Amino acid sequence: MYPNQRFRRLRTNQAIRDLVSETSISPNDFIVPLFVVEGENIKEEIPSMPDYYRMSLDILSKEIKLIWNMGLKSVLVFVKVEEKYKDNKGIEAVNPKGLMQRAIDTIKQTVPEMLVMTDVALDPYSMYGHDGIVNNGVIDNDLTNSFLAEMALSHAKAGADFVAPSDMMDGRIKIMRNRLEKEGFHHTGIMSYSAKYASAFYGPFRDALDSAPVDVKNIPKDKKTYQMNPANRKEAIKETLADIEEGADIVMVKPGLCYLDIVRDIANTVDVPVAAYQVSGEYAMLKAASEKAWLDHDAVMLEQLLAIKRSGASLIASYFAKDAVKLL
Ligand code: PBG
Repeated sequence: MYPNQRFRRLRTNQAIRDLVSETSISPNDFIVPLFVVEGENIKEEIPSMPDYYRMSLDILSKEIKLIWNMGLKSVLVFVKVEEKYKDNKGIEAVNPKGLMQRAIDTIKQTVPEMLVMTDVALDPYSMYGHDGIVNNGVIDNDLTNSFLAEMALSHAKAGADFVAPSDMMDGRIKIMRNRLEKEGFHHTGIMSYSAKYASAFYGPFRDALDSAPVDVKNIPKDKKTYQMNPANRKEAIKETLADIEEGADIVMVKPGLCYLDIVRDIANTVDVPVAAYQVSGEYAMLKAASEKAWLDHDAVMLEQLLAIKRSGASLIASYFAKDAVKLL
């Protein structure tokens, strides 16, 4: 007999290919990131993220109905904070009437069943563009944590189902979990950005929120003292195990595509759901290449999303969520 095995039998037609497919994508897998701004009737395209918008609350409400009707059931909310509210401590972040708190309320008023996850980190509120409080030229870990816990609590009070700390301070999950428990928010979940790398792929996101670290003397110009070194793998596992130990319900790897080896390592190691964040730079790359007709947008998008699932992520935060679900 020659060849010994005929693998192509299982690839003969679409039906058999579908039947033996090991991985699939469904609307249930997605978390939709949303960018919210102050104002009315605002839907502004983010220049480095074609077809992605910052929205005022009235438009957000329409968007929530739309994505719910598409079968998308969870969102991750980010706010673009007005310059006048930025300081070093993120005071505005705990304002019960702040933009984030009103956005949570708007979503829950529109579609109560929508799962609302919120970004917890100081950068959109920071005059320095850092995820924590700057103290004598360093990002003060423990001082930041106590503020982040208040921020998480404030989101929970406003109705968030999950808080998603994206700051990478040490020990923040524990402090947040304790704070939530103490106030009776036993059911508010934590999706932790556990292995978040100091990546150059976040550029378009920082454009969207105007949140890049500032170039000022004696202030760190990047996030490398808290976000992880892209060279490291074992550290991602330690970070993730620590977050689970401290109380994270879902862990996340970020960015996505370049870090799928990390997703696989973590999926093999832990027994909580693992999320991957396909970040703004990944979105921008494909949009740019497909604008030039160098890549087939839909085919590449689905292939990338499938690869993220195949690597062991059961949840995907992605700016492609709507585009993908339309094709499924
Ligand atoms: C900030 C935060 C960032 C992203 C999510 N939360 C940027 C950063 O760490 O500088 C990036 C998301 C993306 O690029 O899509 N806490």
